[in-house]
Amino acid sequence: MTTSLETRLVRAAALLGEWRDVLEERGVDGEVPRWAARRGWDGFLCALPDDDLAGCEVGGAAAVASLVGAPADLVALAREVAAVVAVSEASPPAGPAEALKGAPRRKSGQVAALVDLCRARGFAARRIVDVGSGAGHLTRALARALRVEAVGLERDEERVERARARTAGERGVQFEVVAVGATPVALRPTDLAVGLHACGALADALVALAARDRVSLVLVACCPQKVDRAARPAASRTGRVRALDVAREVLGAANSFEGSPDLEALATRIALRRILRARGVPLRQGDETNGLTPRVRRTLEAASARALALRGLAPASEQERKEALELARVEVGVARRRALPRRLLGSALEIALALDRARALEEAGAASDVVRLFPRALSPRNLAVVSRALAR
Ligand SMILES: C[S@@+](CC[C@H](N)C(=O)[O-])C[C@H]1O[C@@H](n2cnc3c(N)ncnc32)[C@H](O)[C@@H]1O
Repeated sequence: MTTSLETRLVRAAALLGEWRDVLEERGVDGEVPRWAARRGWDGFLCALPDDDLAGCEVGGAAAVASLVGAPADLVALAREVAAVVAVSEASPPAGPAEALKGAPRRKSGQVAALVDLCRARGFAARRIVDVGSGAGHLTRALARALRVEAVGLERDEERVERARARTAGERGVQFEVVAVGATPVALRPTDLAVGLHACGALADALVALAARDRVSLVLVACCPQKVDRAARPAASRTGRVRALDVAREVLGAANSFEGSPDLEALATRIALRRILRARGVPLRQGDETNGLTPRVRRTLEAASARALALRGLAPASEQERKEALELARVEVGVARRRALPRRLLGSALEIALALDRARALEEAGAASDVVRLFPRALSPRNLAVVSRALAR
């Protein structure tokens, strides 16, 4: 018998509650996290050989659980995380993904997986409503594959213009500028709502909409920390009863991934923090890249110039940057080791959020599940809430 969504959510919430201190305390450069000191883990973590560390970063909870000589409570945590994060995988696509015009290869793969899932599940929709449709790749692909009309709802006007331009000549596909959640939207019972990498509050707004209007939904969420409120309230009754309200600064942990980290990017961030702190900037871990675009974050020169300018400070000299980066490259090794337990809990948090959304839809009368939709190589944010609205 398969375990019910409710049971899985209750188990995930219990795990997060039990290890709340690890999840809530993000490490500070060069300091032993309090949760590691309390449990006597720091010596073990910091002494992890490079191969073991790399194996745990790629293998996640199962790899941590099998570390020889690990503290018993760390092994217990890893085993429980491994059980909580186990979800079924969607069937792999029958053939190679069609390369979508103007889309990066990974986006084409994600779209193909979502289209295959909709076909395999036999959603008999008359219209696709793609929420947070961006460039509209998914909107167009689903309209073509399922031979139905489709509408993309997107709050960013420029993206809507670009999506419309790309769609010229295709019948039955439209894009509208709509901020879902802020603007009233009504779905029809014969709609299939979809969201691919619906970020932050949008994912919850979409779940609320699908539950209210009783439509089927396929949702892959991302960037859970992009919410306006100080905390994300649980979407389901089960989640609320189990106190699954999560503070915004903790939600970012659910963006963790299993894979080899980009060491140079990590060193750049640590070096950036060093430079800012040396200039007397009070800084919470993670805040150093606020207001910095992904392009600017790539080099310490650009990142530090921007971060300092944002605070009305002069750019860092070449010598300042060189020294900060050299020290940061050494600190990366320790930071990666100390980050392991929180990464585990981050993956459990990500699953808990997906289960909470699936359960909210189930409580509203749908048949729902959570599946891993595509391989991590296509995107680490690969969990899909799949929900079929049932007849009233
Ligand atoms: C990460 S992108 C994903 C775009 C597209 N679905 C894809 O997979 O390529 C998220 C998109 O959702 C849009 N968005 C965020 N919040 C929204 C809201 N409340 N209503 C409509 N669109 C929103 C953003 O502007 C952005 O284009």
